Amino acid sequence: MKLPSLLEAKKRTNNKINIVPEGYVLNENYKNLGLGKTYYVKTYGCQMNEHDSENIKAILETMGYKEASEFEKADLILLNTCAIRENAHNKVFGMVGRIKHLKESRPEVMAGICGCMAQEESVVEEIMTKYKFLDIVFGTHNINNLPNIIATSMAKKSLEVEVDSIEGEVYENIPVKRDSKYKAWVNIMYGCDKFCTYCIVPYTRGKQRSREPKYIIDEVKELVNDGYLEVTLLGQNVNAYGKDLNINYTMANLLEDVAKTGIKRLRFVTSHPWDFNDEMIDVIAKYDNIMPYIHLPLQSGSSRILKLMGRRYTKEEYLELFNKLKTRIENVSITTDIIVGFPGETLEDFNETLDVVNACKYDSAFTFVFSPRIGTPACKMKDDVSIEEKNQRLYKLNDLVNKYALEANQKYLGKTVKVLVEGYSGKDESMLMGYTETMKLVNVKADPKNIGKIINVKITDVKTWSMDGEIVD
Ligand code: SAH
Ligand code: SF4
Ligand code: F3S
Repeated sequence: MKLPSLLEAKKRTNNKINIVPEGYVLNENYKNLGLGKTYYVKTYGCQMNEHDSENIKAILETMGYKEASEFEKADLILLNTCAIRENAHNKVFGMVGRIKHLKESRPEVMAGICGCMAQEESVVEEIMTKYKFLDIVFGTHNINNLPNIIATSMAKKSLEVEVDSIEGEVYENIPVKRDSKYKAWVNIMYGCDKFCTYCIVPYTRGKQRSREPKYIIDEVKELVNDGYLEVTLLGQNVNAYGKDLNINYTMANLLEDVAKTGIKRLRFVTSHPWDFNDEMIDVIAKYDNIMPYIHLPLQSGSSRILKLMGRRYTKEEYLELFNKLKTRIENVSITTDIIVGFPGETLEDFNETLDVVNACKYDSAFTFVFSPRIGTPACKMKDDVSIEEKNQRLYKLNDLVNKYALEANQKYLGKTVKVLVEGYSGKDESMLMGYTETMKLVNVKADPKNIGKIINVKITDVKTWSMDGEIVD
């Protein structure tokens, strides 16, 4: 048993992080532990979690487990959770209720919780008192030890909790089972040191640890060899890449070196405006295979609120960066994240957010009502805006965001764009779906033989969240 500790998670040490090329070793005794059994991993949250699930699935397969087609049929169920807002919590415990029900008819089923919620003291306490029927809980720093955790729980036939609050070494050989054959996530850094005052991520993911450039570049080269067309470099704050390595190598250098591997499409998320420098903009503008799409979270348009959020840029600085990106990168599409109802946000503050949205006319935006997270500074700030008022601000903001999203899409009508076709459309099985270079979702009328290819598509209809089109030569 290792329980999470918020006090530990808050600590930042100067200890050098060891990068261990062959750190992951599967104990011989666990190689057949999952033989004849199936697993089901349900993923919540961000791309980081999606990619962690790809590691988790691969580890389970090295133990002999196979993927189950549905949750009810699996012998091992894992919920890879997100802690960013309170509603994530409710969704997960709803699912835990379904697991309890399933275990009544199939008591042999093993189930567990991992990911960012597992890093929360209060969540693990809740599990240990109310949900003891679960079998394993493990944290974001404990994925590499999953076989051992499963084996321990099997042997003692009770709940096994293993959550380290402080990040460990970076292992370079954790296996991965990628969800797609065409596009891949590649971690370039783990953790986050920005400590935005509302955010739990620095505590659930530990301090910033960049991977060494050579491992990232080799991974992308291998993906290119395997026929992958698109790579997304992942980090909570990719623009700060390399700062912790002390090797005088930045995100601009990395982007350039990865672009040179010849991968057809290169993307990266997420860009904190704070570290977005001119060198990076130059590289993005220079390489055709770096996609003209940037997710640039605003959070608030009020400099007063931005300061309280610890974002370290003002409204004016954000707008300056935004305009620079728009002028220097041809045809760039920019999306954002916005929080409304941060403690003490006045109507004037909120109106400033609307001003920025009116100025930037984002291609799209993810909008949220502030959710207090235990252990973060914002959780203790005085908050006198009612939830009704916050929800009204969210509706108003969404109306504006949707208006501009539709306007941005309307510019594509009649144009021909390149789409990487990923598969069948979820809404209409007779159509295919994929994304443009600018990250627009397109439903395409085309022969299924085009799945896995980048094709030219003429846009015939546009909506707020997607477009329709047909293949052209
Ligand atoms: N690292 C990214 C953000 C990751 S979290 C960045 O800094 O841009 C994704 C988004 O969730 C954030 O951009 C923010 O808009 C939102 N978010 C984070 N914490 C939140 C909270 N406590 N309440 C509401 N929204 C939050
Ligand atoms: Fe959270 Fe800020 Fe780090 Fe993003 S940069 S993960 S919002 S602390
Ligand atoms: Fe959620 Fe953890 Fe990602 S809190 S947003 S899954 S880093």
